[in-house]
Amino acid sequence: MLIKRFSWIVALIKPPAIRALLLQGSALILNVAILLLLGRTADMGISLIGVLLLQATLVVLLSYWCGLAIWWLAIQFLFPFALIGTLALALPPIFFFLLFLLFLGLYWSTFRTQVPYFPSTRATWELVAGLLPPDKPIQFIDIGCGFGGLVLHLAARRMESRFFGIEIAPIPWLISSLRGQRGQFLFGDYAKRDFGQFDVVFAFLSPVAMPDLWIKAKREMRPGSLLLSYEFAIPDAIPDIVVNDPRNVMIYGWQL
Ligand SMILES: C[S@@+](CC[C@H](N)C(=O)[O-])C[C@H]1O[C@@H](n2cnc3c(N)ncnc32)[C@H](O)[C@@H]1O
Repeated sequence: MLIKRFSWIVALIKPPAIRALLLQGSALILNVAILLLLGRTADMGISLIGVLLLQATLVVLLSYWCGLAIWWLAIQFLFPFALIGTLALALPPIFFFLLFLLFLGLYWSTFRTQVPYFPSTRATWELVAGLLPPDKPIQFIDIGCGFGGLVLHLAARRMESRFFGIEIAPIPWLISSLRGQRGQFLFGDYAKRDFGQFDVVFAFLSPVAMPDLWIKAKREMRPGSLLLSYEFAIPDAIPDIVVNDPRNVMIYGWQL
């Protein structure tokens, strides 16, 4: 009952980026407490670099203790130095605001989905084209289509079929929509979209997304349809297709 009541807090602090921020705040409180204590007892002066080092050490210890992944420890260590270094540049506030808007438009809810934008290549698109059912018109969707490269490439090769992309971040979605009439680009979260109409669902996401994607695919995709994933396998689901792209990255396929 108690856990249910506070489940929204658990959901709120689930993304590692939120936990990282809270841990920086906690380390800052500890940092100030230690500095006050030292100032009172030993009357010690401490340099800015000392304060930053203390902050970096405290936050790494806290982050390690809370089980953040190893790359987060490096980010957490460097963050206080990067913050003060950037402030020292004394750039106009509008610069930070515009940068914030750009990142917001590009990455949107990456902190929650843990799937950032990075594109697949033309060589991969060629391989995907070869995995599509050849002998009938199909409906295809790239879930998390980025700037729409794969969708437009396939749509140009298979005029008889329909190619969709769905994208959660506004800037990639807007640009992909402006790039061509051949594909159809939807704005939103693929998790809220029914996969039932598609013959092929293509994903290039992240390891974190794969277990939920598999549950959704099994629930919604029609028998005979195909789920493709670039780079990321689904734990405990043996793929029916495994092909290597020229960069030695796998494309996995599961026949539903
Ligand atoms: C690794 S990129 C892949 C881009 C493209 N599919 C390609 O192959 O070049 C993943 C994309 O998925 C988008 N994305 C992440 N989670 C999503 C979600 N739940 N719904 C829709 N798009 C999502 C991200 O914004 C990002 O653009």
